[in-house]
Amino acid sequence: MKRVILFYFTGTGHTLALAKEIERKGKTEEDWEVTYWNILSSEKCPSLSGFDFGIICYPIYAFNAPKKVDDFIAKLSIPNAFPFLIAKQSGEPLCWNKASSYYIRRKIRKKRGVLLGEYHFLYPYNIHFRYEDDFVKELLIANEKLMRVMFWDLKNKHSSYLKYNVLFALNAYVFRLQRLGAFLNSYFYKVDEDKCIHCLKCVKECPVQNIRYENNKFHFSHHCLMCMRCSFMCPKNAISIGLLEKWKVNGPYSLEGIRKNEELKGEYTKSHHKGYYSFFPKYFQKIDEMLKERKMLPEGSNQNN
Ligand SMILES: Cc1cc2nc3c(=O)[nH]c(=O)nc-3n(C[C@H](O)[C@H](O)[C@H](O)COP(=O)(O)O)c2cc1C
Ligand code: SF4
Ligand code: SF4
Repeated sequence: MKRVILFYFTGTGHTLALAKEIERKGKTEEDWEVTYWNILSSEKCPSLSGFDFGIICYPIYAFNAPKKVDDFIAKLSIPNAFPFLIAKQSGEPLCWNKASSYYIRRKIRKKRGVLLGEYHFLYPYNIHFRYEDDFVKELLIANEKLMRVMFWDLKNKHSSYLKYNVLFALNAYVFRLQRLGAFLNSYFYKVDEDKCIHCLKCVKECPVQNIRYENNKFHFSHHCLMCMRCSFMCPKNAISIGLLEKWKVNGPYSLEGIRKNEELKGEYTKSHHKGYYSFFPKYFQKIDEMLKERKMLPEGSNQNN
């Protein structure tokens, strides 16, 4: 049995969904015992010495890991040669996303930890625009394949890294401006009282207690992470997210429902291959190549086989 500690940060639940998939496969196929650790928890992290390895799961924000994740890794006490796996996820497969772990990887190395590998999964956007269900299905099919690759690599002690050069790291560094943007934009959050039903879900679920309801009024402080949880989860789409209002996505995706829905074929990019969607087939092909290299996919098969 392997004891695994899984560190995660999630705004709108996709990273947690990925973490659960990893746990499910680890438990059923590899006899793992997984301990979850929410990076936003205020409790002191347990000693890593009782674990065989750690997994770091996070969503990509503006080509970076969320600041809370970087800060957490900076503080984490890492035993010599302790192994980590990075399983990150985000909305699109742009190569610039590869360097999002730049800071984490540097910190792990500096503390003499070891990186076992790094994998980038895709989940739908929680900001910018809403993905169609069939497109989400296509991403979930690809995720399932990448998961098989990841487990094969772990079992066979094969390291897969996402390669990037200094330009990518520089780009990630510049885009850390998003962190300042989260602070500035928080001045513009507001609730539309005509739509609000005062369920206080937003108040209860904000991961950093940034929202208060006092004297019949909502107050937003300035610790906002720009995680989108409040506006994404609001049942009445009553929260306006300031300068990003046009990019707001409201309402969770039914990931489990989409996965099980057999009417959805997951072939969205076959008929949508221009513009934004043109980035995806290459990403799907890369996963198929990884499967083939590991002799896990018959010759001639493609993404949807
Ligand atoms: C502030 C912010 C910035 C984002 N930046 C990126 C990005 O640079 N690249 C990307 O592919 N997705 C980006 N996304 C999309 C999220 O990574 C994606 O929707 C993810 O599934 C959300 O995960 P969560 O539900 O665990 O919070 C961004 C989302 C937010 C809220
Ligand atoms: S979640 Fe939406 S409806 Fe509920 S209290 Fe907050 S703003 Fe109002
Ligand atoms: S106020 Fe900011 S940190 Fe809190 S849930 Fe909303 S977006 Fe996330």
